[in-house]
Amino acid sequence: MVKLLSCSGTSELSKTVAAATGTEIVSKTVKKFPDGETYVRLEDTDFKGEKVFIFQSLYPDPNNSLIELFMTINAVRENGGRAFLVIPYFAYGRQDRIFEKGEAFSLKMVADILKSLGAEKLITIDPHFYRKAGDFDFFGMPARNISAVSLLVEHARKTIGGGFIAVGPDRGSKDFLAPLDGSVFMKKTKRFLPSDGPERKYEISIELPENISGRNVLLMDDIIASGGTIRKSAKILKQAGNRVFVACTHGIFLGGSLEELKKYADEIISTDTVKSACSKVSVAGIISEEIEKIIGIT
Ligand code: R5P
Repeated sequence: MVKLLSCSGTSELSKTVAAATGTEIVSKTVKKFPDGETYVRLEDTDFKGEKVFIFQSLYPDPNNSLIELFMTINAVRENGGRAFLVIPYFAYGRQDRIFEKGEAFSLKMVADILKSLGAEKLITIDPHFYRKAGDFDFFGMPARNISAVSLLVEHARKTIGGGFIAVGPDRGSKDFLAPLDGSVFMKKTKRFLPSDGPERKYEISIELPENISGRNVLLMDDIIASGGTIRKSAKILKQAGNRVFVACTHGIFLGGSLEELKKYADEIISTDTVKSACSKVSVAGIISEEIEKIIGIT
């Protein structure tokens, strides 16, 4: 039987996927030593060259989540299993190139570690570093983005109960919104400010696309983190007399950003790649379909 391993960030999601795909969840122990080091032990090691689907979402606590993932892959490989990664939310996705000389190339570094541990394939959802749905090359590892855009739109359509126009907060969302015909984009300009700490400080100015007033607007983005981008866009759209529905794949909603956004949005939805009060759409179904394809059920 094909096996599935759940890391700390994904236990609920992996249970639903295991039930839908008829895969068996392998129990494992994760502990912290008194000095802060992580310990991982698998309860079942009978892999015999089989595919093992390892689930981990890298938020909250991206660094500890990565260490647990690395150790889980290692334990699977040490016991003869083939490691297939299911990482619904992929952290470090915004450090997908070197912006300033001297910086670490964080995303490539994570990819290199995963490859060197022997991971064979990555399944992920709307990663910031690759916005088109479908197969892609993750620094030399075969990967697949199973986009949640259609699921979000299906849910939003029911909530809105009528026609709507999809709006992306910037041109960068073009590939993300490709499954939707006729999307328009806000004009976003980002100006970097001097910063003396690790945080990259910037100012964003956003302009309304033409002829968007008095409409139902579905404002969509891959990720809402600090909420700055989406809040500014929602505010402009609201002030132009639109009903504003916000949908994103990864709802991180740092600090008080969700409350701020609620001032300008009639409804806010996200998926469960990261659990939040807005996780109204589950990605369990699209992950299950992908796993079934890989194990050859369909
Ligand atoms: C930008 O390219 C992304 O698609 C998101 O718009 C951005 O990462 C959201 O970040 P924040 O919520 O911090 O503005």
